[in-house]
Amino acid sequence: MSAKFVENVCVLGAGSTKYGKLDDSISDITVQASAAAIENAGIEPKEIKAGYISNVFGVADKQVHLGPVVMSNLGISERPSLSIESACGSGSVSFREAYANVAAGFYDAVLVTGVEKVTHTGTEWTTTYFSYCSDFFYEGQAGASFPGLFASMARAYLNEFDATEEDLASVAVKNHDNGLSNPKAHLRKKITIDDVMNSAVVASPLKLFDCCPFSDGASSVVICNEQFAKDHSKDYVKVIGSGRGGSPAALQGRDHLTTIPSTKLAAADAYKMAGITAKDVDFAEVHDCFTVAEVVDTEDLGFFEKGKGAKAARNGETRLNGSISINPSGGLKSKGHPIGATGVGQVVEVFEQLTGQSGQRTVNDAKIGLTQNFGATGASCAVHIFQSV
Ligand SMILES: CC(C)(COP(=O)(O)OP(=O)(O)OC[C@H]1O[C@@H](n2cnc3c(N)ncnc32)[C@H](O)[C@@H]1OP(=O)(O)O)[C@@H](O)C(=O)NCCC(=O)NCCS
Repeated sequence: MSAKFVENVCVLGAGSTKYGKLDDSISDITVQASAAAIENAGIEPKEIKAGYISNVFGVADKQVHLGPVVMSNLGISERPSLSIESACGSGSVSFREAYANVAAGFYDAVLVTGVEKVTHTGTEWTTTYFSYCSDFFYEGQAGASFPGLFASMARAYLNEFDATEEDLASVAVKNHDNGLSNPKAHLRKKITIDDVMNSAVVASPLKLFDCCPFSDGASSVVICNEQFAKDHSKDYVKVIGSGRGGSPAALQGRDHLTTIPSTKLAAADAYKMAGITAKDVDFAEVHDCFTVAEVVDTEDLGFFEKGKGAKAARNGETRLNGSISINPSGGLKSKGHPIGATGVGQVVEVFEQLTGQSGQRTVNDAKIGLTQNFGATGASCAVHIFQSV
């Protein structure tokens, strides 16, 4: 095999399990999503030349080194695979590695699958496991869970800007509305601002409905060079921008708590590569692990000025078919957050949106979609931009 750079990398097919509490094993759900993506792409498993599998806590379901297990179950055990961990951002990092290998010409078509299976370990253990993704010396071991760390960001945001807890609550209300139209979503339930405000305090000012749930789930996409996509004469979507960035791992290392440096760096790279600005984006799947995160994301991605994101959400600008549709899938808040799968799940949503497969949650006339997915409190981030053909 000789590598030769290719001009365009495309998404050819996508598949996902339902997100939520799942009974099947981690291996089974990984294979289910992978097989669904391959079928959706209209290709045979043997046409997949490599696999990229993102997962964080396979150890919780007694299976790490998932790559070869998935490839074997698909009947292509001879194909190489790479298992990737980057906390809650694992899926997008996996996508980026796969993208880079297709762009470099190493493979014409590859599989990217993300998975997590943690709900059976219970809230106490899952919270403990997740804290291993923080800068454990300064944060996790001192008792700072992710709800606690994002509560610090929320408190800083509310102090610094003209924003209220109700503004943050409106993000959850909007994402639950969107999730109602997503049959694969974990929490499919209409809620009101009062429901959010009256829900149990998890880490003040964040309440139950400001938080994403713990979810199981797997998502998968097939990506390939454009010639391969055309040869299979199927609807496909072009990847026009890819960027990554980093931030100090612990919150204490950052100059501000109301912005995530890695998002800005990743977005700047992705916009530059795509030759577009934030104004050209029709919709985005962003990392709303907590309501405040979505607000900060929409500012860091350039959709709103600093300090204006919360009011924009409250005013309905981020609703489905608002001025920019944010998280039409329901986002992490409603669709769910199986951490190793989330970044790939965002790409599944963009693919379905841009190929007319999203039913009632369709963003009208959308041509350009963006995904932003980070690990921990944004210590690592990847942004991708996609365009319909
Ligand atoms: C918010 C949180 C503490 C709730 O955990 P919990 O109190 O143990 O909740 P349970 O799993 O026992 O569920 C209790 C009820 O609340 C619901 N629920 C759980 N989490 C929910 C959430 N985030 N939003 C809305 N409802 C939720 C459950 O569906 C269940 O409802 P039911 O009784 O009608 O079935 C937990 O979901 C959490 O920590 N989320 C954040 C996860 C995280 O940090 N991810 C990484 C981000 S970087």
